[in-house]
Amino acid sequence: MSFQKLIDLQLIFSITGKKYLYYFIGVIILIISVSFVDVAAIGTIYPLLDNLTNSNNNSSSKFLNLIQKNFNSNSNFFFEIGIIFILLLSILKFLLNLSLSYFGQKFSLSVHNKISLYLFKKYLNKDYIFFLNVSSASLIRNIITEITFFTTGILTSFINLITETILLSFFITLALLINFKIAIIVFTLVLILAFLIFIFTQPKIRKSGKRRFELTERKINDVTQALENIKQLKILNAEEIFTRSYDYHNSRANKQELIFYFFKSLPKNFIEFVILISIVCFLYISKSEKIDLSSHLPLLGTFALISFRMIPSFSRITVAFQQFSYFKKSASIIYDELKKEINKNDTKKIENIADQIDFQNQITLEDINYKYKNSKFELLIPNLIIKKNSYIGLKGASGSGKSTLVNLILGLIEPQSGKIKIDNSELNQSSKKNWYKKIGFLPQEVTLINDTILYNITFGTNEKNKNFELINKLFQELSLENLVDRLKDPIFKVGEKGTSLSGGEKQRLGLVRALYRNPELLILDEPTSSIDKYSSDKIMNFIHSLKNTTKIIISHNNSDLEHCDDVFELDKGLIKSKF
Ligand SMILES: Nc1ncnc2c1ncn2[C@@H]1O[C@H](COP(=O)(O)OP(=O)(O)OP(=O)(O)O)[C@@H](O)[C@H]1O
Ligand SMILES: [Mg+2]
Repeated sequence: MSFQKLIDLQLIFSITGKKYLYYFIGVIILIISVSFVDVAAIGTIYPLLDNLTNSNNNSSSKFLNLIQKNFNSNSNFFFEIGIIFILLLSILKFLLNLSLSYFGQKFSLSVHNKISLYLFKKYLNKDYIFFLNVSSASLIRNIITEITFFTTGILTSFINLITETILLSFFITLALLINFKIAIIVFTLVLILAFLIFIFTQPKIRKSGKRRFELTERKINDVTQALENIKQLKILNAEEIFTRSYDYHNSRANKQELIFYFFKSLPKNFIEFVILISIVCFLYISKSEKIDLSSHLPLLGTFALISFRMIPSFSRITVAFQQFSYFKKSASIIYDELKKEINKNDTKKIENIADQIDFQNQITLEDINYKYKNSKFELLIPNLIIKKNSYIGLKGASGSGKSTLVNLILGLIEPQSGKIKIDNSELNQSSKKNWYKKIGFLPQEVTLINDTILYNITFGTNEKNKNFELINKLFQELSLENLVDRLKDPIFKVGEKGTSLSGGEKQRLGLVRALYRNPELLILDEPTSSIDKYSSDKIMNFIHSLKNTTKIIISHNNSDLEHCDDVFELDKGLIKSKF
């Protein structure tokens, strides 16, 4: 198992910032202090036990003799000092342990915050085309569940591993100092056991972790798809198909969890079991061989205490390795996602290097060729010029490429070959954000945010200075008067995807949103498809009256296009004719 693939601290800290590196170092120092205090407390118990049972100060242990020689005092005084020392250490240990659980956990959670935010930002800043080829369930899984598993399963386990290794090495040193032979025998035994458990369970755990990873996406997919298609689901009586599928994926994912939890509990119980059996055997042999144990009581007592502290450490180390195997897939997916070349559209970069774009004369499309993945459709535009402030109509059969053409002009998708120029500058990654600022766009399918009507119109603009005059005017022009009293109602929400509004209201609200930005370029993809003839004529007259705006409108309805300066007809991805 390559550690770098599991814990890429360099990558993690490059995202979270240096502050977290210092934080991490602080946690490690805390861990070392806790371990040190812990071992010192138990180390003091041995001389005390010896002092209680053996008052002639003639111990069998070199370690003990050393301590007693240094104290060089009467046994009562030595005993009292020891007791006070242990008490103080216990208080210190208690405080340090509390701080460690708090700060250790805080560290993991803060890293969780930073990384999941980073990933969410990174996804949102990807090009539109990215979202056409990816399932939202896999993105939800990565941002929400996998990062949680990554921090709890990998990062916290890593901290546990360091904690327990340090603690264990302190205890091993102490035990070796007290009795070298017994210590070697006990540790070799436990080490072999832990190693055997790990070797035996690791392949199964890894497999089960991988399976859990795939199933998580499936079950999120079941829920999101069912909710997105709820109307159809009802009409088709298809609820059961989705609940069955969810049950299938969820119960199998839970089965993987169960397998993992079973294996996770194995080390602790098994090591305890073997140690207990060994003690019973030891007692039995001592009895039958008539070995006098009373003179060895301090030694045995201290070893019992050390073992008592060490078994959990051993099992936690084994569990940490098991967690690494189980959540390996989460770690690798998170690292892959984080490492993937940062999109040039990344917000920070854009703010620094965004090319200004000036639209004074025309939009030019030259030798454009666009093809979707998994589709035979091909859009070919050898040459198209859209003059500033002109009014352009696009028509053509369904599937002829109208929406694809406007997506290209918008900059949402990029042509495989050819250029789109705004005046003399090419539309590219670094100029896109500034280009979007000039555009008002009504998509073919209007989507709304489940918030107030006002928020849906103004979000993304200067929300403090809302232009109510403009909104009221647009409501009037678009025959939305009946929504005016709900406009400022802070309680009324439009519902997810605008389910609390009629189809036509939704479409007109989309239009208000596009127009509210006073765009230089207005692109409307079938603006009247859900609106009655009377209202749509009124709306089209209003659109026509907008001066100082370049307008591109797609419509199947010839009467919508009658005011246009030019109308292009598309046919199977080619401009067939111009009217
Ligand atoms: N994301 C996509 N992946 C693959 N093919 C696509 C994708 N989007 C659209 N297409 C295909 O590209 C072609 C043109 O689609 P487009 O949406 O541009 O048509 P349209 O002219 O706007 O049609 P309509 O009038 O029905 O809206 C269609 O054949 C469609 O199946
Ligand atoms: Mg379309």
